[in-house]
Amino acid sequence: MYSEKVMEHFANPQNVGEIENANAVGEVGNVRCGDIMKIYMDIDGDVIKDVKFKTFGCGAAIATSSMATEMVKGKTIEEALELTNKAVMDALGGLPPEKIHCSVLAEEAIRAAITDYKKRQVEEVEEFEYDCCQKEN
Ligand code: FES
Repeated sequence: MYSEKVMEHFANPQNVGEIENANAVGEVGNVRCGDIMKIYMDIDGDVIKDVKFKTFGCGAAIATSSMATEMVKGKTIEEALELTNKAVMDALGGLPPEKIHCSVLAEEAIRAAITDYKKRQVEEVEEFEYDCCQKEN
């Protein structure tokens, strides 16, 4: 039913855990089953230096989270945004049709974390501009 790669990532998932002081965090839920995935990133400029995840879900969700985090680590945020659940599934040697929805969690969580990072960047600029205005007045 599952490929060797899926079993390998399920039995020995990579990048499990949290990043203390992560500057990007994304959390998404799967409406079909109620499972949840949270992703933590340490982004420097536009490069994802480190990424970790916590998935409260099935084996397929854990395997896709593990593979997806491996595929975006060291990449730019633009490259990470291009990662699709299909690419993750292909890298895992496929998933049974009834488990395809599980692979969407990782793609969505990565997007949510990058959106969070971009939001924080805007807030930092706004705070900086506010501080500058305060000093001038
Ligand atoms: Fe919920 Fe797979 S059954 S993510």
